[in-house]
Amino acid sequence: MSLLRIEHLSKSFGGVKAVNDVSFALAPGEMRAMIGPNGAGKTTLFNMVDGQLRPDAGNILLNGKSILGLPPRAIFRADVGRTFQIAATFASMTVLQNVQTALASCARQTTSLFRRADDLHRAEAMDLLRQVNMADQAERPCGVLAYGDVKRVELALALANKPKLLLMDEPTAGMAPAERIALITQTRDIAKHRNVGVLFTEHSMDVVFGFADRIMVLSRGRLIAEGDAEEIRNNPKVRQIYFGAGAEPVR
Ligand SMILES: Nc1ncnc2c1ncn2[C@@H]1O[C@H](COP(=O)(O)OP(=O)(O)O)[C@@H](O)[C@H]1O
Ligand SMILES: [Mg+2]
Repeated sequence: MSLLRIEHLSKSFGGVKAVNDVSFALAPGEMRAMIGPNGAGKTTLFNMVDGQLRPDAGNILLNGKSILGLPPRAIFRADVGRTFQIAATFASMTVLQNVQTALASCARQTTSLFRRADDLHRAEAMDLLRQVNMADQAERPCGVLAYGDVKRVELALALANKPKLLLMDEPTAGMAPAERIALITQTRDIAKHRNVGVLFTEHSMDVVFGFADRIMVLSRGRLIAEGDAEEIRNNPKVRQIYFGAGAEPVR
């Protein structure tokens, strides 16, 4: 069964069809890139899947069950994780404390009166930090981290909820090329290791073509192509959008 199934999803803002009759399915453990020019509707699609935006039409199924109309908290509890921007991490707290806090809130625990906060979920938090290569910076305050390291902490925070589906909207924005590759390599390892489905957007075509199992192309709200790297590279509609008519395959 598909982990995520999107059926005829549409959303308009005024006269703009931001997402227009989009359907696709994503399997557990699959790394799927969603690409398309600015304004294609990628973020709007993410915001519908995680419950921030209500679709005008269509359905969203997680493990065969519709999550349409559920509030974001309920969708989060239904195993959908999302990386959030820096603001979501607390700058004065250490990297480790941030991840411990996320684990505690996912376990719906408040800091126990009988247990020091420092001990809570420490081993599990360190394990997550190792997976994103941040264990050596566990004791540093988040506020002093380099940009790429903050992104890695954000990934660890998203994983604290043990999602089955991870939504990543431009996770590598602002990163240097080597950092991008590192983050997406870690994401792919985690996806394969934990059988987590990942839907991500990314501007670097090296990352998209090098790391996605499947690629979808959105243009003006419509899904115009879907396939593996080779199929997308050779798709005439995709070439036209990126390079104009008669262009060479996307590299
Ligand atoms: N909250 C909003 N209000 C009005 N228009 C919006 C809103 N969000 C997105 N749009 C419009 O919807 C279209 C798709 O935007 P978006 O989903 O952000 O695209 P992408 O993430 O692919 O760049 C754009 O034309 C954008 O201007
Ligand atoms: Mg966007």
